Amino acid sequence: MTSIVCSLAFPSPSLIWKNRKSSGRTTTMVAISLSHFDGVTMGPPEPIVEVFEAFRAETDPLKLNLAVRSYRTEELEPYVLDVVKKAEKLLLEKGENKEYPPVEGLTAFNKITAELLLGTDHPVIQQEKVATVQSLSGSGAIRLASAFIQGYFPDAHAMIPSPTWVNHKNIFDDAGVPWSEYRYYEPKTVSVDFDGMISDIKAAPDGSFIVLHGCAHNPTGIDPTPQQWEKIADVIQEKKHIPFFDVAYQGLASGNLDIDAWSVRLFVSRGFEVLVAQSYSKNLGLQAERIGALNVVCSSPDAAKRVRSQLKRLSLNLHLYSPLHGARIVETIVGDHTLFNEWKEEMESMVQRIKNVRKRLFDNLSQKDESGKEFSFVLRQNGMFSYMGLNKAQCDYLTNKWHIYVTKDGRITMAGLSLAKCEYLADAIIDSYHNVS
Ligand SMILES: Cc1ncc(COP(=O)(O)O)c(C=O)c1O
Ligand SMILES: *[C@@H]1O[C@H](CO)[C@@H](O)[C@H](O)[C@H]1NC(C)=O
Repeated sequence: MTSIVCSLAFPSPSLIWKNRKSSGRTTTMVAISLSHFDGVTMGPPEPIVEVFEAFRAETDPLKLNLAVRSYRTEELEPYVLDVVKKAEKLLLEKGENKEYPPVEGLTAFNKITAELLLGTDHPVIQQEKVATVQSLSGSGAIRLASAFIQGYFPDAHAMIPSPTWVNHKNIFDDAGVPWSEYRYYEPKTVSVDFDGMISDIKAAPDGSFIVLHGCAHNPTGIDPTPQQWEKIADVIQEKKHIPFFDVAYQGLASGNLDIDAWSVRLFVSRGFEVLVAQSYSKNLGLQAERIGALNVVCSSPDAAKRVRSQLKRLSLNLHLYSPLHGARIVETIVGDHTLFNEWKEEMESMVQRIKNVRKRLFDNLSQKDESGKEFSFVLRQNGMFSYMGLNKAQCDYLTNKWHIYVTKDGRITMAGLSLAKCEYLADAIIDSYHNVS
């Protein structure tokens, strides 16, 4: 009996056994095992990366990338905040070591983070009712919260707005948290579908986790009004739901950290227990440092202590420790009166730039459009992103005819637009409204 086993990769014992068993009495067996991973199918392409690749390959000099996910300067370049550069210089001079930090993150960082969110002297902080744990930015905070929900509320489900940031679904799926959507967006008026939202939240099983964007909703740019927030809180209270805030843009909606935390603070002042995922990716431009936190506001210090201990355990299971560098940058800036003020000024000027772009785009759309369409929604939207009421065919048209690249849901990054490009974009949008339905 001859048996020649030709194996390119190191074959697993089970593979050899199977092949031997299946080989005939005297047949020569050639088992070519290319890889242990032959059974692994190709993952889906990342839609936004496809858009970026198409943009890179675009040869027209008028090309414009409005699919970018972070703030750009008026020259459309990436931006490192001056205050971050200063903090990094100070950190380099200090030359601190790189020992493992505490599992829950740096104490000073966690304190600062809860204070930025809730206000320095908030009673829930003073009474030690807040469990704050550093995370791998906003995404990591949502993943950690999902593990917590999965572990302690196995029968609960999450409700996310439709539309929402793409990764909410993926993260909940990965963590095994069932989710469904509540209506959020009304395309005809480019505003919040408030009745739809309220009735869907009412219809959800009691005790659901309701995901809310604290400010600057991604992708639409449309936030509820203060009166609407009050009503949302009423329904959530009535249904004993648990609010789960995603705060990825604190300070980048209005230019003011306190104003942008208003929605979260409203719920906390009404006595809710809330989960809040926070990120410094955008408001400090630290996207690559992966710095953020999960805060759980509890109704007693004892509950907060227990929740914190479990979040630490879950965080250890997920990724052990969180990165130090971003935490130290935040600590250095917010802990220093002068640097903190400089950050606020820089953030204000980033927001001002986005507002200037919105105003010019609004002017140009209104001046050029002859159909009497109302564009004031552009001015009412907040933050880095905007829906323009464009459907997929219209987005394709923007790209194919005008060389303007956007994500296929029609999201336009206002923070990636310059004053100089507004008129061109207005022409393109009006053309696509009129020629594509
Ligand atoms: C709504 C929302 N949540 C969370 C995130 C997470 O970002 P990061 O993980 O960089 O904090 C983003 C980023 O775009 C976002 O838009
Ligand atoms: C576009 O808007 C700017 C600023 O509001 C204005 O100066 C310019 O004339 C506008 N262009 C057109 C064609 O409307």
